[in-house]
Amino acid sequence: AFAKRIFSGIQPSGGLTLGNYLGALKRFVEKQDEGIETVYCLVDMHAITVWQDPAKLRQQTREAAAGFIAAGIDPSRSILFNQSQVTAHVELAWIFNCVARMGWMSRMTQFKDKAGKNSENVSLGLFAYPSLMAADIMAYKATHVPVGEDQKQHLELTRDIAIKFNNDYGVNFFPIVEPIIEGAATRVMSLRDGTKKMSKSDPSDQSRINLTDDADTISKKIRKAKTDPEPLPSELEGLKDRPEARNLVNIYAALAGHTAEQVIRDFGGAQFGSFKPALADLAVAKLSPITTEMSRLMQDPAEIDRILGAGSERAEAIARPIVDQVYDIVGM
Ligand code: ADP
Ligand code: NA
Repeated sequence: AFAKRIFSGIQPSGGLTLGNYLGALKRFVEKQDEGIETVYCLVDMHAITVWQDPAKLRQQTREAAAGFIAAGIDPSRSILFNQSQVTAHVELAWIFNCVARMGWMSRMTQFKDKAGKNSENVSLGLFAYPSLMAADIMAYKATHVPVGEDQKQHLELTRDIAIKFNNDYGVNFFPIVEPIIEGAATRVMSLRDGTKKMSKSDPSDQSRINLTDDADTISKKIRKAKTDPEPLPSELEGLKDRPEARNLVNIYAALAGHTAEQVIRDFGGAQFGSFKPALADLAVAKLSPITTEMSRLMQDPAEIDRILGAGSERAEAIARPIVDQVYDIVGM
């Protein structure tokens, strides 16, 4: 049996969004506070699968670290570091590139979404990204990964790679990881289009709520969110074909720590003219303390670098021996 260990990561490819917070970060904090061993990584190697301005990448990495800490990640309890500082990740990724099959990789829907019609002109790294993600997780023999719904398929791939590695080499070396996809907002949608996910990696979408937004900006974005003209239904069923309404209800539920059913019980029949201000107030109450703490932390970038450096040493101490054992298994 493998000891329970949590691993997850976020790309420093832009400012952290409400989607990252509700789908990932908030849950990372909960796992840490449950006393489980937690390893959290700013996956800068993933970020460069699409072009990143070097100065911005450095800034965004520090800002993401500040976001983690401001949201409640305690670097003395969780390991918090950036991926590029622990070379075990890319070393294991190469081995996994030789285990994963082309057919598996070409079925990844996120690649198809991100590459779009232009798949001849995206980086090889973008295609191989899920193999690096499998390595991120397996370099720690992590057993559980809290993520948003969009990462479900990548975690299935991680399992397939681990199973094939174990079979190919006749070992029981890697655990078969379990995704943890829970809470009311596992897939926060864009506020301007309820059929697209809110993503920090989509620069064209100005409607997304960033953890660096001030109270006014958050309220404005929520007031401007696309909705239909109907009041909120009195049963959850009534949200079925109303993606924008469902999204706002889910966001409310996740922020309040309630279920969507409870929100419908409280707001069923309400017009958006009254629901949106309630949601805006809640969002400001929950996010403002994080925003304030983030900007305080960002005033001392050297301290953030020190925290990440210390985290990478602790990460290295776990990952290095695991990857050395992998070399041995493979015959190197
Ligand atoms: P992004 O797509 O915003 O660039 P990442 O790929 O870095 O985000 O994902 C970081 C974490 O945040 C993952 O666990 C992912 O599932 C989660 N996540 C990203 N966007 C959303 C969203 N809109 N709703 C819920 N979770 C999300
Ligand atoms: Na993503």
